[in-house]
Amino acid sequence: MKIPLLDLKLQHASLAPRIEEAIAKVLASTSFVGGPPIAEFERAFATYCETRHAIGCGNGTDALEMALHALGVGKGDRVVTVSHTFIATVEAIVNVGAEPVLVDVDPQTLVMDTNALAETMAKVDGVRAIIPVHVYGNMVAMDRVVEIGRRHGAAIIEDAAQAHGARYRGKRAGTFGDLATFSFFPGKNLGALGDAGALITSDDELARRVSALRDHGRREKYVHDSFGRNSRLDPLQAAVLSVKLPALDGWNAGRRAVAARYDQALPPSLTRVATTPECEHVYHQYVVRHSRREALREALAAAQIDSGVHYPVPVHLQPAWRAHGFPEVSLPHTERACEEVFSLPIFPELNSEQQGRIVRVLSDALG
Ligand SMILES: Cc1ncc(COP(=O)(O)O)c(C=O)c1O
Repeated sequence: MKIPLLDLKLQHASLAPRIEEAIAKVLASTSFVGGPPIAEFERAFATYCETRHAIGCGNGTDALEMALHALGVGKGDRVVTVSHTFIATVEAIVNVGAEPVLVDVDPQTLVMDTNALAETMAKVDGVRAIIPVHVYGNMVAMDRVVEIGRRHGAAIIEDAAQAHGARYRGKRAGTFGDLATFSFFPGKNLGALGDAGALITSDDELARRVSALRDHGRREKYVHDSFGRNSRLDPLQAAVLSVKLPALDGWNAGRRAVAARYDQALPPSLTRVATTPECEHVYHQYVVRHSRREALREALAAAQIDSGVHYPVPVHLQPAWRAHGFPEVSLPHTERACEEVFSLPIFPELNSEQQGRIVRVLSDALG
C-alpha cells in the first residue's frame, strides 16, 4: 500500500458528519457571503492563538499582502525576509510595490538566521518591515527578531502559514510581531476544504484596517475609506474550520509523536533539521537532508512511499526573481539546503507499521 506524504482521508473521516452538518447549516441559511460563521471562527481562532483579533480572509498570500498594506508598506520601502520559503512570502512584498531583501537561513534549523538579519538591518536603509517565516512548523527565535526590529524601527509580520499552534518560549506563533498571517490551504496543519487564510494581531487599529482592506476598504455599506480588495473568508470554509480547530492541538501532538519516532529510528547518516531551542515545533513537514537526496527519494518511490522537497529552488534563483530585474544574491546555506532537503510522510494518523517501512527503506538505501 502506498504511503502518501499527507493523508487527509482519515482526518476527514473522523469529522465528516460534523463537517457536513456545519455545511448544511450554512446552505440552509443562504448567507453565502459574510454571516455568523465567520465571526464565530475568528473569535475561536483568536482565542486559540492567544491574541485579541483574528481576521479571516481568502488565503495566506492575500493575508501577507494585506498585512503589508495595513502597515503602509509600499513603493520605495524595503522588506527583509528569507529565500527559503514558499514563493508567496516574497510575492506579497513585490505585489505591494516594495523591494524584498533576502537573508540566509541558519544551516541547522533552516529558519531565518537572526545574525544575518542583524547584519543586514545594520547596513540596508529603508527597511520598513521584517517577515520571519516559521517554515516547516519550526519557529524563528522571535525574541531576537523583535529586538532587532524595534532597534531599527521596522514592523514585524510573522508568516505563520506552516506553524498553527507552535510556541516559542511558551508563546503562540503569531503573537510576537505586529501582525501574523496564516494559510488554511487544505494540506496545512489546520486546513479548510479549499483556499482560506487569516491574520492575527493584538493591535486594535491594525485589526480595523485589515478588516476593512479584505472587504474593499469598506467602513459601512458604500462608504470606502481606502482601496482594498475582495478577500473575504468564505462562510462555508469558516464553518468547516470551526469544526476542525478544537482538534488542532491533538493533531499537532500526533505530528510531534511521529517526528520523535523518526528522530529516534532514522539512521544517523541522514541529517535532521534541528528545532529552534525553546520552540514547540508543530511539524508541518518532517525534513531531513542528504547529499544523495535523489537516490534516496528514488528508493522511497520504488517502495511506494511518497516524499517531497520543500523547496527545490529558492526564491532568489526563481525565473520570476530574474525576470523582475532583482539583483543576484548569494545565500550559501539556503542554496545548499535546497539541494539536500527532502520531506518524509508526516500526518497524525501515520502508523508505526508505515513508519517502520519508511525507516527500513531509508536504512537499506543508506547501507
Ligand atoms: C510559508 C508560506 N507562506 C505563505 C503561503 C501562502 O498561503 P496560501 O497558499 O493560502 O495563499 C504558504 C502556503 O503554501 C506558505 O507555506
